[in-house]
Parts: sequence; C-alpha cells; structure tokens
Amino acid sequence: MLHTALNWRYATKRMNGRRVPEATVERILDAAHLAPSSYGLQPYSVVVVETPELRERCQPAMFHQPQVVEGSHLLVFATWECIGEAEVDQLMALIAEERGLELSSLEGYRQTVAGTVERLATAEARHQWAARQAYLAMGMVLTAAAMERVDATPMEGFDPAALDEVLELPARGLRSAVAVTLGYRDTDADWLANLKKVRWPRERVITRAE
Ligand SMILES: Cc1cc2nc3c(=O)[nH]c(=O)nc-3n(C[C@H](O)[C@H](O)[C@H](O)COP(=O)(O)O)c2cc1C
Repeated sequence: MLHTALNWRYATKRMNGRRVPEATVERILDAAHLAPSSYGLQPYSVVVVETPELRERCQPAMFHQPQVVEGSHLLVFATWECIGEAEVDQLMALIAEERGLELSSLEGYRQTVAGTVERLATAEARHQWAARQAYLAMGMVLTAAAMERVDATPMEGFDPAALDEVLELPARGLRSAVAVTLGYRDTDADWLANLKKVRWPRERVITRAE
C-alpha cells in the first residue's frame, strides 16, 4: 500500500483548485508533528498558508509556480532563528513533564544537546542544521499526503527572503527552508501527470558495503 502510494505520487505542477478537506490536512500535518528530529528538538515550525489571498501574495516570491494558487494549502517549513540554551531547557522541561521524570535526571542529556547547539556558531549554521530536521518533516508530509491520495509538491524554487517578508516570518523568529503545496492534480493541464517516474537504477542508489 505504501509502495503503491509512493509510485502514485509525483511533484504536481498543475492542480485543479479542489480543496483538500480540513480533516485530511490535519492528518497530513500530524505526520509532520510526529517526524523524528535530532535530539527531538524539532527546531522549526510548519506555517500553514490557507487563504487564496495570502497564497496569491506568496506566488511572486515562489517564481509564480501555479500550484501555489491552484492547490488549497501551502505549507512553509521554517527554521527557528533562536536555537540555544533556552530552547534546550524548554525541551528538557517538556520531557520531564511528559515522562514524569525529575529534571535533574536529564542533566547529562541537557549538556549533550546544549553542547551540540553551542557548536552551531553562526545563524547560517543553525539554519542549515534546523533545515535538515525540517526536510525530514517534509518527507513525512509527502508520504502521508500520498497515502491520503492528496497531491503534494515539494518546493525549493522560491526566494526565501521575499517569502519570509510576505509571511512576516522574521517577526516570529522564523526563516523559510522549504515548502509544499497540497491539492489535487489537474491531469489535463499537467504535462507531467502521465509521464513515467524516473529514478536511477536501484543498484546505483541502494548499495551495500562489504
Ligand atoms: C527539496 C526539493 C525541492 C523541489 N523544488 C521544486 C520546485 O520548486 N518546483 C517543482 O515543481 N518541483 C520541485 N521539486 C520536485 C522534484 O523535481 C521532483 O521531486 C523530482 O523530479 C522527482 O520527481 P517526482 O517527485 O515527481 O517523483 C522539488 C523536490 C525536492 C525534494
């Protein structure tokens, strides 16, 4: 079933404007919420852009890609600008509360995570590290969407600074990394809809060490 869904999905270029039901979108977003991340820090937000007006305003920053407005939801995976001791302490407090542990029992873990984020010395290094976690969440979204037979287009084709400005992300301490549109394929308009999926031969991608 998973393999059928993964073969069915493709990076849809043209969508038909039909709206993805709210309950389905929420299930797809649950997959992002449940994504694994380094130390469980999840240093990103998934910003849901729903209204046609706001998606229209995003489109110029996204090189006018049609699926931004022809889909029904635009998801922007945006990294946290602040990743430091405070965020690590918040995570420790959450783990302690959720698992009924003494905060002091997490001290070793706290130091390990704090050490890692401290070594991310520049804003760019923090963004790149957090973006790697955000891409994992995006992968989960693409898979979940395929399982729901919802089309999803992953997108790096945008001007991050321009998109951040439209969505006022800097004021929220966020910086866009990657985006996904959700919707339904327009099989008449999309030149890609009936083309064969192209991948390197499996043995080039999947190799074994001796
Ligand atoms: C990180 C990433 C960025 C991408 N950016 C875009 C994009 O901006 N616009 C687009 O139409 N497709 C984009 N794609 C789609 C890829 O071109 C597509 O996934 C690839 O050609 C494989 O084809 P398939 O996903 O249709 O099977 C992107 C894919 C990924 C994973």
